[in-house]
Amino acid sequence: MAPPPESTQPIQPTHRYLAGNFAPVRTEQVLTGLAVEGTLPAFLDGRYLRNGPNPVGPVDPAGYHWFLGSGMVHGIRLRDGRAEWYRNRWVRSGEVADALGEPRRPGPVHAEMDFSPNTNVVGHAGRTFAIVEGGSRPYELTDELDTVGPCDFDGTLSGGYTAHPHRDLATGDLHAISYFWGWGDVVQYSVLGRDGRVSRTVDLDVPGGPMMHDFAFTDHHVIVFDLPITFDLDLVARQPFPYAWNPAHPSRVGVFRRDGDGTDLRWFDVAPCYVYHPMNAFEDGTSLVVDVVRYESSMRTDHTGPFEASPTLDRWTIDLNGPSTVAEQTLHDLPSEFPRIDERLTGRRHRFGYSPVSSDPNVEEPEFDGLMRVDTTNGRTQVRSFGPTRRSHEFVFVPTAEDSAEDDGVLMGLVSDVADDTTRLVVLDSATLEDVASVEIPARVPYGFHGNWIPTGQ
Ligand SMILES: [Fe+2]
Repeated sequence: MAPPPESTQPIQPTHRYLAGNFAPVRTEQVLTGLAVEGTLPAFLDGRYLRNGPNPVGPVDPAGYHWFLGSGMVHGIRLRDGRAEWYRNRWVRSGEVADALGEPRRPGPVHAEMDFSPNTNVVGHAGRTFAIVEGGSRPYELTDELDTVGPCDFDGTLSGGYTAHPHRDLATGDLHAISYFWGWGDVVQYSVLGRDGRVSRTVDLDVPGGPMMHDFAFTDHHVIVFDLPITFDLDLVARQPFPYAWNPAHPSRVGVFRRDGDGTDLRWFDVAPCYVYHPMNAFEDGTSLVVDVVRYESSMRTDHTGPFEASPTLDRWTIDLNGPSTVAEQTLHDLPSEFPRIDERLTGRRHRFGYSPVSSDPNVEEPEFDGLMRVDTTNGRTQVRSFGPTRRSHEFVFVPTAEDSAEDDGVLMGLVSDVADDTTRLVVLDSATLEDVASVEIPARVPYGFHGNWIPTGQ
């Protein structure tokens, strides 16, 4: 186990993303023999992993943005109805290795961006990768979350990657949109095959340096979000993060065919907003339907993180035979984020979505206290509250079996108790949001970004 970093400089609580349960933890732990309440289903054989920012050394609050903290991956190993271990590990970039007094891991860093990926963690081709956007490469982890090093998928990844690849279950491929300020007006669509090598790339002309955090695809189309948070070199000297709200940049949604070369890219105007995460997209006749978590703005007034206005869950419809505008409809206005679906349906028509949610519709800085299940066919929601001192992180859906129906499975995610700094891995029946089981983790897991259930062997 690595020692904690030498510096214990106190965190200034005035920075929202360094205070409370955003504050980083200072140690790496391995905890075994975790208590389980209820019964963990036998089909849960694998690891639940979750990535998030956790600065490794001293932090200058004036120079900190939530998106910049070193990545720390938290994991829980489930098998045979038991929770075998919890562990947390910093992702060893050079800076992190130096801070921990360890040798640097060798590997193909892109454009000197040796950044500790802090945004997502995925399993693919039997390997585990911590990932981030903006030009940095994935860092491969072992099954027990130790860092192997930066990875370019056997030399097939030309630049950086993304925090939000999406798997097409029909092929097992991972699809991605990558951007990097050093590429100028180009963003790249890529397909990572089941063999763990990039099989296809398409360069797209997208001027203005937008931050493309996520994207969506359908059976035949790729959907990209060109929205007004953009890179600005002048910001480097003025604020921690070189991307910010840019009212001069258009808001539009791009569509191109998955099997083409990108020259058919067509733009559809949408009202100014920012979308970090689509829930899913699918085809409906000649239209594309995209469910998104929409912010009126983000990083416009607050340059320390994304939350400055309550988002809504909206449905966007793009008629490929119609005008070059997006039709918008709000499905629900409870503040929610980190939407997930039954991902066997990624790119295809889904009915249900699941998101951490705040029970206070007026909250502007979501600290989610519940989980929402939304029926997107009618906007009806069920909300499971975890109680006044408990805070929900992202939840993922795990089907009961490969061929079970949509929504037949469990939802799995972390719930923090801010009263005693403990955490639970909570497993709920996806259809009822009632408890199935929970794993008690006697450690604090800070708020973070994304994670996944990685079945053994994936
Ligand atoms: Fe994200």
